[in-house]
Amino acid sequence: MSTNPSNGDSNGSTLIERPIPPCNIVIFGATGDLCHRKLLPAWFSLEAQGLLPEHLKIIGFARRDFSDMSYREEVKQSLEQFAPDLWKDCHHAWSKFQHRIVFHRSDFDNEKGFHWLKERLDKLDQTDGTAGNRLFYLATPPATYSTVIHQLGNAGLAKRDTPDSGFIRIIVEKPFGSDLDSARKLNNELKSVFDEDQIYRIDHYLGKETVQNIFVFRFANALFEPLWNCKYIDNVQVTVSETVGVEQRAGYFDKAGELRDMVQSHALQMLALIAMEPPNSLTAGDLRDEKVKVLRAIKPIKGDDIAKNIVRAQYAAGQIDGKDVPAYRAEPNVPPDSVTDTFAALKLDIQNWRWSGVPFYVRAGKRMQQRLTEVNIVFKDIPPILLRQMGSTRDGIEPNVITIRVQPNEGISMRLGAKPPGAQTKVKSVDMNFTYGTSFGARIHDAYERLLMDAMLGDASLFTRDDEVEAEWGLITPIEEYWKNSGAKEIPNYASGSWGPQEACDLIERDGRKWLNR
Ligand code: BG6
Repeated sequence: MSTNPSNGDSNGSTLIERPIPPCNIVIFGATGDLCHRKLLPAWFSLEAQGLLPEHLKIIGFARRDFSDMSYREEVKQSLEQFAPDLWKDCHHAWSKFQHRIVFHRSDFDNEKGFHWLKERLDKLDQTDGTAGNRLFYLATPPATYSTVIHQLGNAGLAKRDTPDSGFIRIIVEKPFGSDLDSARKLNNELKSVFDEDQIYRIDHYLGKETVQNIFVFRFANALFEPLWNCKYIDNVQVTVSETVGVEQRAGYFDKAGELRDMVQSHALQMLALIAMEPPNSLTAGDLRDEKVKVLRAIKPIKGDDIAKNIVRAQYAAGQIDGKDVPAYRAEPNVPPDSVTDTFAALKLDIQNWRWSGVPFYVRAGKRMQQRLTEVNIVFKDIPPILLRQMGSTRDGIEPNVITIRVQPNEGISMRLGAKPPGAQTKVKSVDMNFTYGTSFGARIHDAYERLLMDAMLGDASLFTRDDEVEAEWGLITPIEEYWKNSGAKEIPNYASGSWGPQEACDLIERDGRKWLNR
C-alpha cells in the first residue's frame, strides 16, 4: 500500500504509479513446485502486462544440471502446464521473457556457488543494467533457509556496499517456523544477516484483492466505522474452507496440520484486518503496528480452555463433487494412525475496548463441501419492539450480516430486513450484493503478482513483520503443545464433502449462535 523504495514507509499506492526498478531476482528452489506453479507464472503475467522493466533478470538457483537454455525450456513447459490460460492468451510475451531467465547451478551448502553468484550478479549489473538491485526469493523447503541465509551473508550478498549501491531484499516463503521458538530462531538468523526492512515474509492471502479490500471497505466508507465495535456487532465468523485434501504434500502437512497451515497465517491475518484500529497512515510500519496490537489483544487459549474453545478434526472418506475421495489416513504418505488436524475451529476473544465480549469464531478445513473463504460480521438483534411486537416472528427478522467473500465470487454482501410485497407487514431477509466481476469487470490478479510487484517496489505493507509472525505463533504454539502432550490416539472425524465435524457446530451453538454456512 505504501511506496518507499527501502522499507515502504511513505504514502501512496503502488501498482501503476511507479515503475518497477531494474533488478536481478534470484530464486532459491528454482526447480521446485512453488517456483513453477506460482512464481514464474506471476512474473510471466507481469511481463505480459508490460510491467517489468527492461533490465530485469530472473536467476534460477538450484542443484539440478540445467543450462540457461534447458532451464528456459523447463520454464516454458511449466507455464504451459500450470498457467494454461495465461499461456494461451499471452504466449507472445515469451520471446522477451525467456531472455530474462538465467540458471545458476549450485548446492546450497557450496560456499563457492554463492561467491560465483555474486560475481555473476555484479557482471549482470554491468552488462544488463540491473543497477545493483537484488531480490532473493527463498522458495526452498524451510530446512534449507538457514543455510541459504548464512551463505548469502558470507558471500557479501546481503548488505549493500554503499547506501546508494542499490537495494537488497529477501522474500521468505511460508511456513515461517513451525512454532514460536522456531519462528524466533528464523527471525534471529535472518536479522543476523539482513535488516528487518530488507525482509519480506509472505502470507499470500495478503496479496489477494479481496483481503486488501477488507481494509479499503472499512476505512473508505463512513458508514461502517461507527458500527464496527462491540456495541453493534454480535459476533464475527472467519471461514477458510477448501475442497482439496492433502494432495502430494503429506511430508509437510502431516507435521503441520490445519491450525498451523491455515489459521496461524491466513485466518489470523484476515482477522487482524477486520479487527484492527485505523492506522495513522498507510505506511507498512503503521499498518503492521495496528495488526500486531490486535494479535496481542487476543486472549491466549491455554490448558483446559483449549478443549472448550477449540475443535480439531480430520477428514474421513466421502465425496467431493460427486467423486469418492479417501480418508486423510488413507492418503499417500500419511501414517495410518496420524492424528493430524485437517480442520480446526476456534473461539477467540479479543480483549480490547472495541471488541470486548464479541466472539470471533474461526474455522479452516480441507476436503470441505465448498471452496469458500469469507468473513461474516453478524450484527446484534434489533430490540424486541415494533416489528417484532407486531406479530412478525423472531425468525423472520434475522440480524444484519456483512459478508466479505474473499473467494470465490469475490465481493461483499449485506443482509438486510425488507418488507415483501403484500397486505401484511412481514420482514424478509434480502441480500445487497457487490461482486468484483460485475462492478469492475477486470481480471483479479493472482496474489503472487501483487506481492512480487510490491517486493520489487519496496512496499512491505502486504508482508508480515517479525513481531507479527511471533504474535501469531504465540497464540498457536500452546494449543499445538497441548494437543501433542494429550497423546490422543484419535481425534474427531468429519466426512469429506461436509462442513466439518459436529463438534464445530457445538462450539458455536453452545453460545446460541450458528455458522452462517453449514
Ligand atoms: C497455503 C496452504 O498457504 O494456502 C495450503 O499451505 C492451502 O494448504 C493454500 O491449500 C490455500 O491457498 P488458496 O490461495 O488456494 O486459498
